Amino acid sequence: MKDVFRIEGLEGGQALRGKVRVNGAKNAVLKSMAASILFEDELVLSNVPHIEDVERVAELLSALGAKVGRNKNSYTIDTEGIGKPELDDAIARRLRASIVFSGPLLARFGRVSFPHPGGDVIGAGARPIDLFLEGFQKMGCTVLTEGDRYHIVADDGRLRGAEIFFISVSVTATETLMMAATLAKGTTFLRNAAMEPEIVALAEFLNSCGADIKGAGTPTIMIRGGGTLSSHGKVFETIPDRIETGSFLILGALAGQEVEITDCNPEHVAILTGLLRESGVDIKTTPTTIVVRANGAKFKPLHIRTHEYPGFATDLQPPIVVYLTQAAGESTVFETIFGGRLSYTEDLVRMGADITLWNSRQITIKGPTPLVGKELESPDVRAGLAFVIAATIAKGKSVIDNVYHIDRGYERIEERLRSIGVPIERVGS
Ligand code: UD1
Repeated sequence: MKDVFRIEGLEGGQALRGKVRVNGAKNAVLKSMAASILFEDELVLSNVPHIEDVERVAELLSALGAKVGRNKNSYTIDTEGIGKPELDDAIARRLRASIVFSGPLLARFGRVSFPHPGGDVIGAGARPIDLFLEGFQKMGCTVLTEGDRYHIVADDGRLRGAEIFFISVSVTATETLMMAATLAKGTTFLRNAAMEPEIVALAEFLNSCGADIKGAGTPTIMIRGGGTLSSHGKVFETIPDRIETGSFLILGALAGQEVEITDCNPEHVAILTGLLRESGVDIKTTPTTIVVRANGAKFKPLHIRTHEYPGFATDLQPPIVVYLTQAAGESTVFETIFGGRLSYTEDLVRMGADITLWNSRQITIKGPTPLVGKELESPDVRAGLAFVIAATIAKGKSVIDNVYHIDRGYERIEERLRSIGVPIERVGS
C-alpha cells in the first residue's frame, strides 16, 4: 500500500504546543547493527527507531545467516550463524548504508562480496565508494569487480593495520574502516577522519567491549587491532537522532507557541541553535531537552554553508531552507557535501518561495514569502520531512506522496507531529 500525508496548513499561525520525543538515530543504528559482526556473543541494541532502513538492515543480517530478534525498540543480534560473507543483492542495492557491512565482514572472514550500494539518489549518478576500496587495499586486500559486484579478499587471510589518509571526509568510510581495523593485525591510523557523534558513540561502545580505539571525534583515529569483541550482556543504547532534533527545532521556530523537544542531545545541534538564535528564535536548552518558541518574531536572514560535523549538517539543509523562506531579507545556502541536493527547492518555489538556484550547490532565498499548500512528492528522506514542515506553515491543504522515503528515516512521524498540533494524517492510497 502506498501511503500519502495530508496536511492542513496553519497559514503562518504559531499554534504548535507540547512535547515531542526524539528517537534513536538512524545513522547510528545502521552502523551498530553492522558492528554486531565484530562480536563473538549476542549484541543487544536499545532505543532503535522502527523505520524502514532498520528493517532493511535486519533483513540483510538475516540473509547472511545471523539471528535477529526484535522486542519493541530493542534488537538482539547473534551473528554466529553467518556462513558466507556475501551481501544479498536486492537488499544491499536498496540501501546505501549496506556498504558499512563490508568492513566488519572482511575483518571477520578475510573476504566479502557485495553489490554497489543503493540508497537516496543525491546528486548525479551512484555515490562513489572509492575511499572504502582504497582503504581495504591499504589493509592488504585485493579488489575484484564482476559487473557491479565487488569481491574483496585479504591477501593474508586477515586484514593488516595500515596508514589511511582519506582524501575527502566520509562518515561511512570512517566507520567502516574503523570497524575493520578493530579485528586487523596491527595498528591502523585513519587520518582526515569524519568526527560525527555517531562515530564517537560507536567507538566508545566498541572500546567498552574490548576494542582499542583512540581519537574518535577528532581527525585522527588510531585503532589497535585484536580479536573478536565480547559484549558480556552490555546494551548498546542508540544516541538521539540529531537530524530529527534539528528538524523539530526548525518546525518549532516557525510555528511553535511552545514546543519542547525531549530525549535529545542539544550539543549535537549546537550550530543550528546558534544560528537560529542569531536569527531571532527563542531557544532554551537543558542537557536533554530544547524548548523553542516562535513568538511572532521577525527572523533575520542567514548564510549557511553545509559542512562535516561539527559544521552545519547537509541533512538539515532542506529544513533550514524552508525556515529561510520565512526570514526577512536575503539568505544564501551553499551545499558543499552533495551536489544536486537542492533540486527539491523547485517545489518550494511552486509553493510560493522566492528561491534562485545559481548552480547545483548554491541558492539565494528572499523572504518572507507566504507558502501555499500543494501536491508534493517526497524526493528523499530529508527533503521529504522539509516538505512536511513547509506544508505545516502553508495556507491550505498539501498532499505529500512517496511517504516511503520519509518512513525510511523517521518513525511514525505523523503521530508525533500530531501530538504537538500539526494537522497531519496518513492516508493509504
Ligand atoms: C552519511 C549519512 C548521511 C549524510 C552524510 C553526510 C549515514 C548512513 N548517512 O552518508 O545521512 O548526509 O553522511 O553527512 O550515515 N565520498 C566519496 N567517496 C567515497 C565515499 C564518499 O567521494 O568512497 C563523498 C560523497 O560523494 C560525498 C562526501 O564524500 O560527497 C561525503 O559523503 P559521506 O560522508 O560518505 O556520506 P555517507 O557516509 O554516505
